[in-house]
Amino acid sequence: INKLAQVDTSVLIRGESGTGKELVAKAIHMNGPRKDERFVAVNCSAIPEALIESEFFGHEKGAFTGADGRKIGKFQYADGGTLFLDEIGDISPALQVKLLRALQEQRFTPVGANREVEVNVRIVAATNRNLEEMIKKGEFREDLFYRLNVLPIFLPPLRERKDDVLALVEHFLQKFNGTYGAKIQGVADEARELLMKYNWPGNIRELENVMEHAFVIESGARITPASLPDSIRGLSRSGKSAVASDNQGADGKENISYAINLNNLDFQNQKEEFEKHFIISALKVFNGRINQTALHANIPKKTLLRKLEKYGLTAKDYQDDGD
Ligand SMILES: Nc1ncnc2c1ncn2[C@@H]1O[C@H](COP(=O)(O)OP(=O)(O)O)[C@@H](O)[C@H]1O
Ligand SMILES: [Mg+2]
Repeated sequence: INKLAQVDTSVLIRGESGTGKELVAKAIHMNGPRKDERFVAVNCSAIPEALIESEFFGHEKGAFTGADGRKIGKFQYADGGTLFLDEIGDISPALQVKLLRALQEQRFTPVGANREVEVNVRIVAATNRNLEEMIKKGEFREDLFYRLNVLPIFLPPLRERKDDVLALVEHFLQKFNGTYGAKIQGVADEARELLMKYNWPGNIRELENVMEHAFVIESGARITPASLPDSIRGLSRSGKSAVASDNQGADGKENISYAINLNNLDFQNQKEEFEKHFIISALKVFNGRINQTALHANIPKKTLLRKLEKYGLTAKDYQDDGD
């Protein structure tokens, strides 16, 4: 990261949600010559299509209905600094063209303006979507991809780097001992085992939330299984990761409840977490079968496939193979 930080080339960070893409983007900014300038983050998937061009490039007064004042776009706001374009795979082909031009020329025209604005920004982009696949389907421009992907970084999901789990647990122990006033010294063996066994669909963000949850619940000096959320303890029961807790409803049918994480009330984030949990739960109910899941959950199959890709999920991981 230190080396990447010194140059001005575009960086593309790939990885599932919660693997640390934004943290890495900030680290690149903070370790480079632009560190005293702004780091501006834009979540491309959170901005409505109709507003995104103006969000990027700004607009003149009266440029469109509702544009009652002049507005500076994120490109201009980040001038001299770093612009972090999160979820870059979610922008429309029309905007991809405009973005490419702005990146190539470091110049752009605000919506409704007849002048160009020149800027000097470093671009760090991130996505958890499969851009190569999107290029093949004509959904993402190849030229923009090459422009962004000059320096690629891939952040693996936590389940593929289980060796890091304990180091991260240690890190969060220290962090939350600071936040909550030192009280927890370590992790009991059984709890450690559960943390190692779990497959962490929400990656480091989920681990961080689990640790904070434990700090709030645990009254002893060590984290025990009792202070871990059901999702983690569920593992020992069913033999695979359960991200939602199951129980019987009054009608005798299975209910699935999803706990809202009160430590991170970011709406977009929560929506995505919920969506992911919902999809995993539905896949489990339909034994990993895409067609049935799409049918019964009333999601177009295409949308379901796109969401699976977005969250890095594989349907057959949710087949009940009897263990
Ligand atoms: N290597 C790491 N060490 C400690 N905390 C981390 C690490 N990577 C990510 N985190 C934390 O995990 C959470 C999710 O990281 P974030 O960068 O927002 O992920 P992403 O952008 O990939 O969804 C953040 O709270 C971040 O501080
Ligand atoms: Mg993020």
